[in-house]
Amino acid sequence: MIQYQEEQQQLNLYTENNQLSIGILPSGHVVLLYFGKKITSDSLSYITGEIKRASYLADTDSIKDFKLEQLPFIYPAYGNPDLRTPAFQFTYENGSRISDYRYKTHRIYDGKKKIPGLPSTNTATKLSTLELVLKDEITSNEIMLSISCFDEYDIFTQHVEVFNYSKEKLKINQIMSVNLDFLTDKFDLITLSGAWGRESHIHRNKIRQGYQGIDSKRGASGHGQNPFIALVDPSTNENSGNVYSMNFIYSGNFIANVEVDMHQNTRMQLGINPFDFEWCLSPGEVFYTPEAVLVFSNEGLNGMSQLYHRFYLECLMQSNHARKERPVLINNWEATYFDFNKETILSLAKEASEIGIELFVLDDGWFGERNGDNSSLGDWVPNEKKLGGSLKNLIKDVNKLGLDFGLWLEPEMISRNSNLFKEHPDWIIQVPGRVPQQVRNQLVLDLSRKDVQNFLIETIDSLLKENNITYLKWDMNRNLTDMGSILLESDYQKELGHRYILGLYFILETLLAKHPDVLIESCAGGGGRFDPGMLYYTPQIWTSDNTDAIERLATQEGISLLYPPVSMSCHVSAVPNHQVGRMTTLNTRGIVAQQGNFGYEINLLDATMEDKLQMKLQIEFYKKYRNTFQFGQHYRLNVYDEQNEKAWMKLDAKKVIVSHVYRLAKVNTVPKRLKLQNLEETASYRLEGTKRTFKGDELMEIGIALDKPTHDFYASQWVFTREK
Ligand code: GLA
Repeated sequence: MIQYQEEQQQLNLYTENNQLSIGILPSGHVVLLYFGKKITSDSLSYITGEIKRASYLADTDSIKDFKLEQLPFIYPAYGNPDLRTPAFQFTYENGSRISDYRYKTHRIYDGKKKIPGLPSTNTATKLSTLELVLKDEITSNEIMLSISCFDEYDIFTQHVEVFNYSKEKLKINQIMSVNLDFLTDKFDLITLSGAWGRESHIHRNKIRQGYQGIDSKRGASGHGQNPFIALVDPSTNENSGNVYSMNFIYSGNFIANVEVDMHQNTRMQLGINPFDFEWCLSPGEVFYTPEAVLVFSNEGLNGMSQLYHRFYLECLMQSNHARKERPVLINNWEATYFDFNKETILSLAKEASEIGIELFVLDDGWFGERNGDNSSLGDWVPNEKKLGGSLKNLIKDVNKLGLDFGLWLEPEMISRNSNLFKEHPDWIIQVPGRVPQQVRNQLVLDLSRKDVQNFLIETIDSLLKENNITYLKWDMNRNLTDMGSILLESDYQKELGHRYILGLYFILETLLAKHPDVLIESCAGGGGRFDPGMLYYTPQIWTSDNTDAIERLATQEGISLLYPPVSMSCHVSAVPNHQVGRMTTLNTRGIVAQQGNFGYEINLLDATMEDKLQMKLQIEFYKKYRNTFQFGQHYRLNVYDEQNEKAWMKLDAKKVIVSHVYRLAKVNTVPKRLKLQNLEETASYRLEGTKRTFKGDELMEIGIALDKPTHDFYASQWVFTREK
């Protein structure tokens, strides 16, 4: 709900429990009065007037003590006495970089418009949008902040539009999607950081005066940093305390920063990374920023996660599969790597079918001359010699075994050693006169080009039309270097990073419109592009190339902060683990993989009868509770020894599934009890496999007794059925 209070020049944006209040000053500057839990008073315009003045800062508009640098802004400009980091910066044709955008008007309407060319949230019953228009009198250009309130989801989103109404070109040097100013610096900063193989670990630090934050210059959101930041009260934990967070619906270069100024105020921003970015806006043109999601919770990190999970499932993920149960799959990558033929595939599929697997995914190596990672990307023609005939027939044979068929593709890439490269050497990202760098022996197609986009759409469309493929793994295995596009004029070269992402989104959008029933899983060397932009198109994402159950705990915990568990693909793989050599039991590997969207990546042809039987039981168990595993609420549970244990639970109206993992077994220690969360206090919960029944409050206040680990990497699981 959005309320305009004309007399106080205040706009109050409400969701069921939260509030964002904006004030319009007599000067036309627009301030952020409040962001947090809903409060009863609707008049907050006194706040900015009560800020005590600091020394040395300049006055504005020659008004004594009108010090912009002390005010909390909603979208600060460059060129006035607020010398903190602006939310945007433009260069005009005469070389000026000064902007003075002040309130012009606003509109409030029910619903929300799509953002052209970009993924965005939509479809909620109670949804209203504020369009706040700011104008620069000298140039007549306008900026519009579009802020939507998803009432029942307790979520705000924001994107920005820039209108060039002048007669000159406008260069956008920097344009954030969102800016929030707070009048304190008593916060910790939380980010999800890491690298290939150890993506999205939770990092938490106290903030300090100065500039801090994260970004990506990799052409993708990246393994190193997820496009998310949160400021939390120092006392905030999983279950209580304030969290102010932002997540970006974008898959390219981003920046998420926090600046603490000289007077202990904090500015928090999220947007396209201004590094190597510029956008040239001709007269009459509009630029749209990607959308940012703003989540406030006063129920700690678990509270925040609940809001993101439900919102993404119901209002972001567009796939027909988003809210459908996902198949248990087997992927042949770690089972065979490039070394397979028809016989291996069919034997693997047969074994998979016997233990209850539902989908067979043929990974890298099925096309062109690809028997290693040094050729054929771009030549998406089945290698019939290797497949023992046509792809169509192979799929028929797999289908006969009772399995659906999925295929791996890495559409954005091209091998130097490929027919496509021979035909179109100009299609790659490159700077004329320089030899572009290869990574994993591959170059990147210039997705900003229409001809490249059309080639990919046509190629994938015909693969899908000609073959009974129900699933695609859309991979992307290197970052972008040598940023240059042959077709762009020099003034537009810095647009390439963003144009690449717009091209990628266009291809995905077009293919999904043609093949709405294909389930696409995205991947970028594991979780190198695990972001809400990709989630809009692909309702599941390969979480990490690291399949070790113990290493995965930290990554999956980080991903679970924001993304619904059903979007997080997790596979049981072989031991010794291929990345770290660790030995873990099948039980532990299964329990950890069941935290997300469950599958296998293991050579069943090498597995013992005993292991296969155990996997069969594991799959039966997962299928029995699949809905709870995939769509139940996911809570991270507090454990006694945080360094050594992880626990989580899945919960819906009927079932509660609790999982707990020890890293190391320790001699002569006595396990403490594990307390559950969010149960109905007076309801009874029966522990499956026993006759024992517990009350909800009992499980929450006293908890369940943990096993004493008999070996390292010991995991346990409990299922409760709610009786009344
Ligand atoms: C990437 C993916 C893997 C696998 C290989 C194939 O590394 O993350 O899962 O598909 O590519 O080359």
